[in-house]
Amino acid sequence: MTILVTGAAGFIGSNFVLDWLSQSKEDVVSLDLLTYAGNLENLSSLEKNPHHHFVRGSIGDRDLVSSLLKKYQVRAIVNFAAESHVDRSIKESKDFIETNIVGTYNLLESGRSYWNDLDQNLKQDFRFLHISSDEVYGSLNSSDHPSNEKDSYKPNSPYSASKAASDHLVRAWFKTYNLPVYTVNSANNYGPYQFPEKLIPLCIFNALQGKPLPIYGDGQQIRDWLFVKDHCGAIREILINGQIGETYNVGGWNEKTNLEVVETLCAILDELKPKSDGKSYAEQITFLKDRPGHDKRYAIDASKLKNEINWHPQESFETGLRKTVLWYLENEGWMNHVVSGEYQDWIQKQYS
Ligand code: NAD
Ligand code: TYD
Repeated sequence: MTILVTGAAGFIGSNFVLDWLSQSKEDVVSLDLLTYAGNLENLSSLEKNPHHHFVRGSIGDRDLVSSLLKKYQVRAIVNFAAESHVDRSIKESKDFIETNIVGTYNLLESGRSYWNDLDQNLKQDFRFLHISSDEVYGSLNSSDHPSNEKDSYKPNSPYSASKAASDHLVRAWFKTYNLPVYTVNSANNYGPYQFPEKLIPLCIFNALQGKPLPIYGDGQQIRDWLFVKDHCGAIREILINGQIGETYNVGGWNEKTNLEVVETLCAILDELKPKSDGKSYAEQITFLKDRPGHDKRYAIDASKLKNEINWHPQESFETGLRKTVLWYLENEGWMNHVVSGEYQDWIQKQYS
């Protein structure tokens, strides 16, 4: 049997595919449209792996998805495909609506039609796991409890509103059609292969280039940080032991202000790659105009996952961040290909 992973050339998707193939007997079909955020270099170690099949295409292409589901006898769909960057959604939200809402709707319909036609024993094993975000719960005050699965949705950005809409569709496909779904709402991820538009890889790159480390507003906004490999492990556990129709919050129990994140990162870089002038990278921190509608605090209560599935993160923020910084230092080529756009030249050559 096979699992279909969408958005597999992106940050979390590629980490998940690598993690899955390192410990599962099931093959993977990776489906990715290869937007600006999709990078086949993330999956280059799998080029000769007979258990991995890459297909370029959209989750919105029902004919393509239906043919892949049948061809590979797919046992589970794991949907990472999305437009994922809040700042981009503020500038132009169209693709967020198209991919995150309409795309998820089409994927649900392709999945439902395939699942309906399966033999009974294959039918009972089929799962549709949808990846979502803690941002759907909206902004918390400092006195609020961390978001749990019973909290109501109050999304504030075009990105989080589009993710919230997709979660509602997934829920409706379970309630109305009994499609066996899970929804996973995760905290901010960090780790290898993250596109350097997001806070942590952007600051690592800028620090090494001697550029400003951009902090929006006063840097006192709080995010909960989850090492991407911990997220991948949680998804694997949910696929095995999760209860159909349930939502699971995944977090790292690591609430940090943005300023703390960047200062910790600078301290690690000071130790691992000291600047020749002896100064700290923290001197490059620069405060910018705040993001419009900037949510003050996200925090995840991951106790349901702990109580029901016995999952808890392996990494603290300090250990995970150190591993992350080391990875970027050891993979400067990857970062340079992304920043220079070279990774897209390669994709154009493959698909022109
Ligand atoms: P990413 O932007 O790095 O990757 C998204 C991938 O989806 C890219 O490879 C892109 O090419 C692909 N894609 C876009 N539109 C597509 C389409 N129509 N069909 C097929 N592929 C398409 O994002 P990420 O950070 O890896 O996030 C993955 C998922 O996790 C998203 O659903 C996101 O909302 C969610 N999430 C991310 C975080 C985080 O901190 N990064 C936190 C919580 C939830
Ligand atoms: P980001 O990595 O874009 O993830 P998200 O918006 O999904 O949480 O941003 C994380 C936090 O860092 C968020 O509060 C915005 C802030 N931020 C900056 O201060 N400067 C930056 O350049 C970026 C990209 C983000």
